[in-house]
Amino acid sequence: EGVPGCSQEGLPYPSNSSELVLECLQQFKVTGTQLQQIQASLLDSMEQALGGQASPASAVRMLPTYVGSIPHGTEQGDFVVLELGATGASLRVLWVTLMGTGGHRMEPRSQEFVIPPEVMLGPGQQLFDFAAHCLSEFLDALPVGKQGLQLGFSFSFPCHQTGLDRSTLISWTKGFRCSGVEGHDVVQLLRDAIKRHGAYNIDVVAVVNDTVGTMMGCEPGVGPCEVGLVVDTGTNACYMEEARHVAVLDEDRGRVCVSVEWGSFGDDGVLGPMLTIFDHALDRESLNPGAQRFEKMIGGLYLGELVRLVLVHLAQRGVLFGGCTSPALLSRGSILLEHVAEMEDPWAGAARVHALLQDLGLNVGASDVELVQYVCAAVFTRAARLCAAALAAVLSRLQHSREQQILQIAVATGGRVFEQHPSFLSILQETVMLLTPECDVSFIPSVDGGGRGVAMVTAVAARLAAHRHL
Ligand code: GLC
Repeated sequence: EGVPGCSQEGLPYPSNSSELVLECLQQFKVTGTQLQQIQASLLDSMEQALGGQASPASAVRMLPTYVGSIPHGTEQGDFVVLELGATGASLRVLWVTLMGTGGHRMEPRSQEFVIPPEVMLGPGQQLFDFAAHCLSEFLDALPVGKQGLQLGFSFSFPCHQTGLDRSTLISWTKGFRCSGVEGHDVVQLLRDAIKRHGAYNIDVVAVVNDTVGTMMGCEPGVGPCEVGLVVDTGTNACYMEEARHVAVLDEDRGRVCVSVEWGSFGDDGVLGPMLTIFDHALDRESLNPGAQRFEKMIGGLYLGELVRLVLVHLAQRGVLFGGCTSPALLSRGSILLEHVAEMEDPWAGAARVHALLQDLGLNVGASDVELVQYVCAAVFTRAARLCAAALAAVLSRLQHSREQQILQIAVATGGRVFEQHPSFLSILQETVMLLTPECDVSFIPSVDGGGRGVAMVTAVAARLAAHRHL
């Protein structure tokens, strides 16, 4: 009879446990050649989707956003920004004041609300009613009137946009699955909810993806900032594409910001050989099996879960925790992004890692701490390198279409993976340099989670709408 949760053959501890762990982690190694393959295949997929070919190979969506130019810096006014979908189970409301060219930058006021799990999976109307409720709770605490408020809606899911304020949800991603929203205009759903709530008269002027908000809010640096990269719960990027290359737009002049939606890269099977047994297990247990396969290797919603699956595997083989698991370790979602970030951080100190593992009810042996740190590092490094390959595809597309020998470009970055885990950016940067030596890239962290950028787009949209009404 063994101890419950413990593997019998695992005791006593195998002397070569570190070798066994490293052998298992080999699966997370992505070689330079594999990264180049991803870069090339993603670029191919991007080009097909731009050309409007709905072949199975075009696993990325390339969604035009109706944002035609990067900000001039002259935008001004007060705006309410509502963010849904970027930061997992929370919704954020911000009050952003744009000062135009003169004046100082003001920090936005903001408030975060936790979305109850039943709301994330319930009827769509309930989700939008919740959003309207949060909006009014936030506004109640500010010295603002009830009329004439202008709102920018940051909605971070794949959408078919048909105008600055019209956007149909294609499919939920990440942890959401509300009924009655897919195939509907999310701006209209929000407007209806605000009306039902009745407390404020708010004009929903623009809807944007979080990547677009990140790019648009970027402080102009050395070069123009024409790429927005987000690694938060999920991952995605947007960039400025020549409008004439976007088949669905039928435009021959200017540029347009396109959201790549690279999270769904690999849904056609191209990632096959790179997927580990842990990726398959995670996908099977997820809300959307078979979808967003690339995102599930990179996004913050999934990194903790991947680490957890590896730790269970190793414990059950007697290589970690004296061969024992614990009910917490066996529960889905018990390891979160912040735990991984902390455990992987070489400076956090063994004591901290020890405590985190003990909180999971595990028997932590002398060598376990270091081995767990290896696991976290392997999962994180793979995520950063894969993300770099995807970014490299976007950069090579830009470099090619701009016909510049060396493309000087700034990439605005946003999301909790960057914020909580500084080494993610260093690995990303290093890998991008190897994959696109012809690009001179600077990375600019977004200051307020893209809220300012959303306000910028809202300012422009409000100006355009006012002209239309003249
Ligand atoms: C998911 C969404 C995408 C968003 C990204 C980052 O991939 O589909 O729209 O930009 O997450 O939040």
